[in-house]
Amino acid sequence: MSITHFPGDGETTPTNASITKVTMPALAEMKRQGKLISSITAYDYPTSRLADEAGIDLLLVGDSLAMVVMGLENTLAITVDEMLHHTRAVRRGVRRALLVADMPFGSYHGSVAEGLANAIRYVKEAGAEAVKIEGPRVELVQALTDAEIPVVGHLGLTPQSVHRMGGYRVQARTADAVLRLKADALALAEAGAGVLVLEGVPREVAAGITAELAIPTIGIGAGPDCDGQILVFHDLVNLTFAPSAKFVRRYGDAAALIRTALEHYREDVEHRAFPSDEESYHLPEAARVALASLAMRKA
Ligand code: KIV
Repeated sequence: MSITHFPGDGETTPTNASITKVTMPALAEMKRQGKLISSITAYDYPTSRLADEAGIDLLLVGDSLAMVVMGLENTLAITVDEMLHHTRAVRRGVRRALLVADMPFGSYHGSVAEGLANAIRYVKEAGAEAVKIEGPRVELVQALTDAEIPVVGHLGLTPQSVHRMGGYRVQARTADAVLRLKADALALAEAGAGVLVLEGVPREVAAGITAELAIPTIGIGAGPDCDGQILVFHDLVNLTFAPSAKFVRRYGDAAALIRTALEHYREDVEHRAFPSDEESYHLPEAARVALASLAMRKA
């Protein structure tokens, strides 16, 4: 909000009255009723507010933030404090959607106690309603569940394992790997995970896991048979400056929109076409008269 924007000035803030909050149990109910779950990543106030107002069910403050917002090569360097900073911004933009935030690499890999302590910070300091954990960390999921912190699991292509995987590759492509993934998914659900993200796995594998689990699966690069889908916001609106992966569908071209707007602005500034007289503040008449008479007395 610019300092010259006055709230109430044509603002379209929705009231809370008409909003039914999305909760973890509500997502499970959606699965039972066969309603598909929409989800998107979010990192700041304006885009999370737009996503929430568009009726997206789940907003994830993904550690993809490291790449798409901070311009880093992978997700590994982002810290808990940086994730909390962005989660707080998203929190202010969200009224209806379930707010989930990623725990970054290193924040839960040392011990269950460390993971629990960090997860508590997400809830207390940033208003997260669930945390997402990569990998089959069953003991940690159990501990978080026992501590009343809802958990979203994340299996398949887990970007925090990029070095172990040797790059971002589709996972579960052999019979052994499929059986392992299924067992991990069941173990996470058993330990209390309320939702499971399946990333970068064959459609058939995601479909099989989705059919077996009582909890909803949210797919990314996992085919259309999951209980919901998630995309990285910057992929969806073309703000990544890179060719998109096979599973990405671009729903808009924010890069073109922003580039055109910025070029027009620069040209207008260079030609003194911005700001116009209508876009300028003016002295009140009384002050103008007083200054003119002061100037006359000085002369
Ligand atoms: O960090 C992220 O954006 C994610 C999604 C891709 C699921 O984990």
